[in-house]
Amino acid sequence: MCGIVGYIGNQDAKEILVKGLEKLEYRGYDSSGVALLNDSGLHVYKEQGRIAALREVIDEQEQAKVGIGHTRWATHGKPSRRNAHPHLSNSGRFTIVHNGVIENYEELKARYLLDIPFASDTDTEVIVQLMDKWVESGVAVENAFRQLFLEIKGSYAVALLDNQDLETIYVGKNKSPLLIGLGQDFHVIASDALAMLQVTNQFVELMDEEIVILRQTSKRITNLSGEIVQRRPFYVKLDASDIEKGPYPHYMLKEIDEQPVVIRKVISKYQDITGDLVIDSHIRAHIQKADRIYIIACGTSYHAGLVGKQLMEKIADIPVETHIASEFLYNRPLLSVNPLFIFISQSGETADSRGVLVAMKQLGHITLTITNVPGSTLSREATYTLLTHAGPEIAVASTKAYTAQIAVLAILAFDSARAKGIKVDVNPVHELSIAANAMEIMINHKEVMEEVVWQYVNTSRNCFFIGRGVDYYACLEGALKLKEISYIQAEGFPGGELKHGTIALIEEGTPVIALVTQAHVRANIRSNVQEVKARGAHVCMISIEGIEEKEDHIILPAVHEWLTPLVSVVPLQLIAYYAALYRGCDVDKPRNLAKSVTVE
Ligand code: G6P
Repeated sequence: MCGIVGYIGNQDAKEILVKGLEKLEYRGYDSSGVALLNDSGLHVYKEQGRIAALREVIDEQEQAKVGIGHTRWATHGKPSRRNAHPHLSNSGRFTIVHNGVIENYEELKARYLLDIPFASDTDTEVIVQLMDKWVESGVAVENAFRQLFLEIKGSYAVALLDNQDLETIYVGKNKSPLLIGLGQDFHVIASDALAMLQVTNQFVELMDEEIVILRQTSKRITNLSGEIVQRRPFYVKLDASDIEKGPYPHYMLKEIDEQPVVIRKVISKYQDITGDLVIDSHIRAHIQKADRIYIIACGTSYHAGLVGKQLMEKIADIPVETHIASEFLYNRPLLSVNPLFIFISQSGETADSRGVLVAMKQLGHITLTITNVPGSTLSREATYTLLTHAGPEIAVASTKAYTAQIAVLAILAFDSARAKGIKVDVNPVHELSIAANAMEIMINHKEVMEEVVWQYVNTSRNCFFIGRGVDYYACLEGALKLKEISYIQAEGFPGGELKHGTIALIEEGTPVIALVTQAHVRANIRSNVQEVKARGAHVCMISIEGIEEKEDHIILPAVHEWLTPLVSVVPLQLIAYYAALYRGCDVDKPRNLAKSVTVE
């Protein structure tokens, strides 16, 4: 949700900033901008649209050794050049980039800035105008900057430049993520290390309510009371290939293809020396003590959480509720006496999930985060973390992170069952490996899904997905993928529920994708299919070996019935991919979305 970068050093900042922004585009891409500071002053370039549009407007001749940049996902003020960051103060002295939301910006405007004309519709501009006002009234720049954070409420990662000081970037952070990158004779800042791996792999993390005075060869981190904070750097171990597309036309396709390897990696990461799958003993102990598990997540991770509920209940006999974070936060259900909270988040930064985490911690509950990003906010702030080891996921629509989450939840369920003495009649490593192989088989037959798109989905304005039990959860994810990237209106429904309303939407030719992988409901879902067919629906049937019928369109290789969601989602991801591709959509960067959503 917006990405920010900064550079102060000996090299030309421009290219480093723009390359950094390109790596952060997944956080938002409706406008972008950079501010470069040199002897002739501040030079701000910004443009609506992608970073490619920004490249066009930047003056190639402008050399600067200090600069900041921003890529935006609009919250306050529509996507436009006017609302693009960096924002300048009225005097032209200060410029700022900001990721987050200033909740009390209207109050601050009314209290301090009634006489100030604003050049944008953003909440952010308040910050830079306040700097102008206070510094003009005689407050030292650093003190004014500190004063800001005593006044503003909300989430922020900000970087500010002063055109009278070529040697400093002023940095502040609360709730939105921000890292300082360390180099030989330079410093950088970035919302995500990915942006600055081009120049360094050594970073220092900033905690909430910290301020940094960043210079070429020094950094002074303080808290809001002015106390100096010392923190060790950490190293990011990533290969360029982890974050490059390689021969693939889109990150999404690469990430779909990586899934079997990711599942095998997850297995290996949770295997002990005897080959058994194990979970940290402290986590296991808390799961044993809990009388109910609450899974909290958003979007695709919520769908993984629904599958996780089934796995924990069926395999380990532990009651689980799965909740959408933004709903849980303000409409909390009655909690059990001894709950355990599991947060599932690809990015580990989602503000809605974090809101619940903070609230549950305040109540003294034990929390566990399942995430793909070590050191992310949700990982740091939870009592425990389980990593999904999927490697960086760049496409906005989540694929491999989702299946990795399900694999970790399955391992958690198997481990919990064993700890409870429940006899599980399967070998988890074997079954998960079979699932990985089955995913691979689907991936190797992409032409089947491509054909389904041509036959059923491509020219349609809507598409329904139906299934029962875990198939229904996979349908929710399949529908989300399709709507996210192809903009076809898509909904997932429990097969039995269609007749209670949604069947009214079925007309001649309406595409319905039906999923049947669960033997105990196969007759029921097939009869739901008959109901929609009778009303003209054009049905694509996805089944699984063992319960398939010869006219089914896609037949998944056999896997254990608990693990079918790992495999059944693959054709759905590919259907979404090809639908987006053939409709000319931007597969990796769908409109209005961002990958890391750090605002509530
Ligand atoms: C955004 C992304 C979704 C993602 C959701 C939750 O909306 O576009 O793909 O599922 O956030 O993100 P998280 O990082 O918490 O899994």
